[in-house]
Amino acid sequence: MFKINSSYLKLKAGYLFPEISRRVNNFSKENQNANLIRLGIGDVTKPLPEACCKAMKLAIEEMATESGFHGYGPEQGYSWLREVIAQFDYQSRSCDISPDEIFVSDGSKCDSSNILEILGEGNRIAVTDPVYPVYVDSNVMAGRTGPVESSGRYKGLKYIPINAENDFVAQIPSEPVDLIYLCFPNNPTGAVATAEQLSAWVDYAKTNKSLILFDAAYEAFIQDPKLPHSIYEIDGARDCAIEFRSFSKNAGFTGTRCAFTVIPKSLKGKAPNEENIDLWSLWNRRQSTKFNGVSYIVQRGAESVYSSEGQSQVSKLVSFYMENAGIIKTQLEQMKLTVYGGENAPYVWIQTPEGIDSWGFFDHLLNKANIVGTPGSGFGAAGEGYFRLSAFNSRENVKEAMRRISCI
Ligand code: MLT
Repeated sequence: MFKINSSYLKLKAGYLFPEISRRVNNFSKENQNANLIRLGIGDVTKPLPEACCKAMKLAIEEMATESGFHGYGPEQGYSWLREVIAQFDYQSRSCDISPDEIFVSDGSKCDSSNILEILGEGNRIAVTDPVYPVYVDSNVMAGRTGPVESSGRYKGLKYIPINAENDFVAQIPSEPVDLIYLCFPNNPTGAVATAEQLSAWVDYAKTNKSLILFDAAYEAFIQDPKLPHSIYEIDGARDCAIEFRSFSKNAGFTGTRCAFTVIPKSLKGKAPNEENIDLWSLWNRRQSTKFNGVSYIVQRGAESVYSSEGQSQVSKLVSFYMENAGIIKTQLEQMKLTVYGGENAPYVWIQTPEGIDSWGFFDHLLNKANIVGTPGSGFGAAGEGYFRLSAFNSRENVKEAMRRISCI
């Protein structure tokens, strides 16, 4: 009989968000009149920016004509989109990134998982704890870890604890690792890293010839002008980092799907024969073989994010969600809860009240206030005792959620 990929058998139960949905669905079946407020998964709620809708409508009309029809596009993305990305997201911040180093894709979740295909086995891999679960699970699926241990951690991965003592910023490990996943603004804790902290990581990566997988999906939510938005704002990062970006959270593309990954041409890894090979060529080969690109229509929508109309609409969306985050943070603090994040990120990270663990707090909020959040332990063992609320919802729901929490 054919064999399955037994690495999947090492995975713990379900992926976090489907598992939450399962529990919430069970609750809803038993409590049909409950008016649930969902502040769990970080899924946007506001409609797409008008500029994106206009651009996509125009693109559909073009597709309906002989002269404007588009079949397969370039696997790497259309040059007009890659050019505006390079200009607005990188060159305007003095990052030395060229359009052809940008690979347009349908999501950062997929890219940050698929990237493992071009990385060898036997790399020592570090993740933070807590962490966005995709980094861990994709390594498990790819057979890059050992079995799960009783702590919920996987053998073979190096976990770097992030906590209130280190401001939820991963400290440089004392031993070398080959791959390190960093996410700033951080999902789930909402923490941010300063240029000095990122410089220390870039120095570490260069010294140890390691690769930083930098997830900047939430960069648009940074409010503090001193904070870096991209790892490439740090000198030397071109030689040791890949960056993942997305239109999901800033422009509301969670259902529309468009993102991009930056692989500088100077970034090299070692082949078994010790030869240095550039990752750009491998990823280009991978994408050309396995991916047919994002639809023309969606890429036109993404391009319009960089128009002056698009920029102002996106900035309004970001401000709206950040005001929500501010309301959540302030109100929970007034209730004497200890709260982190929410200032440069759409996530608020709450210490659960004494004596209640993460899932206990999940059940408490669900049962008593009909509010769905995300248990911190779902992001890793060190997330136990924490709880994440997302700022992606209507103002009315956010206020009502805070009112309900204040009453329980
Ligand atoms: C989250 O809630 O952590 C996000 O929705 C994750 C994602 O963007 O995949």
